[in-house]
Amino acid sequence: MDDPATEEAMGDASRAAQLAALGDEVRDLTQSPLYAFRQAHKYQPVIGEGPADASIMLIGEAPGEYEAKSGRPFVGASGRVLDELLASIGQQRSQVYITNVVKDRPPENRDPSPEEIALYAPFLVRQIEIIRPKVIATLGRFAMEFVLNLLQITPENAMISKLHGQVLHGKAAYGAVAVVPLYHPAVALYSTPRKATLLEDIQALKPFVDQ
Ligand code: URA
Repeated sequence: MDDPATEEAMGDASRAAQLAALGDEVRDLTQSPLYAFRQAHKYQPVIGEGPADASIMLIGEAPGEYEAKSGRPFVGASGRVLDELLASIGQQRSQVYITNVVKDRPPENRDPSPEEIALYAPFLVRQIEIIRPKVIATLGRFAMEFVLNLLQITPENAMISKLHGQVLHGKAAYGAVAVVPLYHPAVALYSTPRKATLLEDIQALKPFVDQ
């Protein structure tokens, strides 16, 4: 295959196929402690959505009720904030890949347990390896801690209050990847100053926007 355009198209098709296969595995994850809750409420797992070759990947914590009902990430109130944040850097959600650390809704939106994280984390790791983003924006403390640990980023002070809006440098299996910790968009729903901070911090993603 010598035509680079054909090669690229084949690569994209394979990435999309790998993501689809991963989605099937999550759908069949009967051993998850969240599986019975999913079935009882006719919820769906939220795998993630966006281009399989997105330059920008956004990672939240876990789906809430609206997400579990629709099977799509960030479609509730915090999703509307996220859309506004993306618009401020000239991006629509269809241009970025959005997912969560945990793919099923925890009851009462409680924090996912260490056991749940351990079960779902390998899927997120694979998504990162398939998509190969240039930058990962973590949404909230939870996703930040997971991604910093995964990509061997060890700042002196790993608090989100210190790291939000900074461009950090991580090592993925496919090479260098930037990480920008952001506050969770839900904070903008009850704090106007935090919304201003989010709007300022997301500007750090601008250099990674495809021209
Ligand atoms: N909060 C998250 O962390 N993820 C979602 O998908 C929705 C709300």
